[in-house]
Amino acid sequence: MKTLIAANWKMHGNLSWVQKSAEFRALFPAKSKNISILLCPPAHMLEAMARASEGLDISVGAQNCHDQATGTYTGELSAAMVAETGATYVILGHSERRASFGDTDSWVATKTSAVQKAGLKPIVCVGESRTEREAGHAEEVVGSQLAGSIPADADGRNLVIAYEPVWAIGTGLTPTIEDIATIHDHIRGCLTTRFGAKVADKIQILYGGSVKPENAKEILALKDVAGALIGGAGLDMKSLAAIAALV
Ligand code: 13P
Repeated sequence: MKTLIAANWKMHGNLSWVQKSAEFRALFPAKSKNISILLCPPAHMLEAMARASEGLDISVGAQNCHDQATGTYTGELSAAMVAETGATYVILGHSERRASFGDTDSWVATKTSAVQKAGLKPIVCVGESRTEREAGHAEEVVGSQLAGSIPADADGRNLVIAYEPVWAIGTGLTPTIEDIATIHDHIRGCLTTRFGAKVADKIQILYGGSVKPENAKEILALKDVAGALIGGAGLDMKSLAAIAALV
């Protein structure tokens, strides 16, 4: 399985950033057998980025979409609309959306279903808060988010999970390597219960939260870590290429 190095640009950038696909390839020319690169820009860039990334072996993803196909949902994009841009992934249930835009487990589940039906690959994000970790509830919280955010009709063969502890996002803090390994192992266990080992073993589980060239090697070397979802360090192609070079 290829390691997935994914950059979530959040609400950063402008149309000139479309050239970052080519910039990344110039810095990291190998279309590696071991690595897939995914760039998730703001929605207004999706189509141009998808076009600019064709032929460079770089995938493009959205950062959210709506669960309904069409309707009176001002400001929203459906999964089919995302698919029309040429993007192939959608990040769902990011903690920033859960905290500020009303994304609940059940809404993430219906979005996941819509994304899979549109032929796109969902990256479902889960992760505990600092209080939950300090109370010793990290595994329980992540297990419950997974149970609620993966819909009953989910296709486990077309699913990516990202473990992003809320307290590690944008803070420079990361869990210990052992804690990351423990949670990823727990997530694998939950997925095995849900889908059976044959399917669950192939689901990529990414780690996200303050991943940088300085810490990525150890994290990416963990057995159940199949890639990274990168915020700040993914805005700069030099640091994204430096992380990719560590795989
Ligand atoms: P940082 O890498 O900036 O901590 O952000 C992680 C993240 O939220 C990726 O989705």
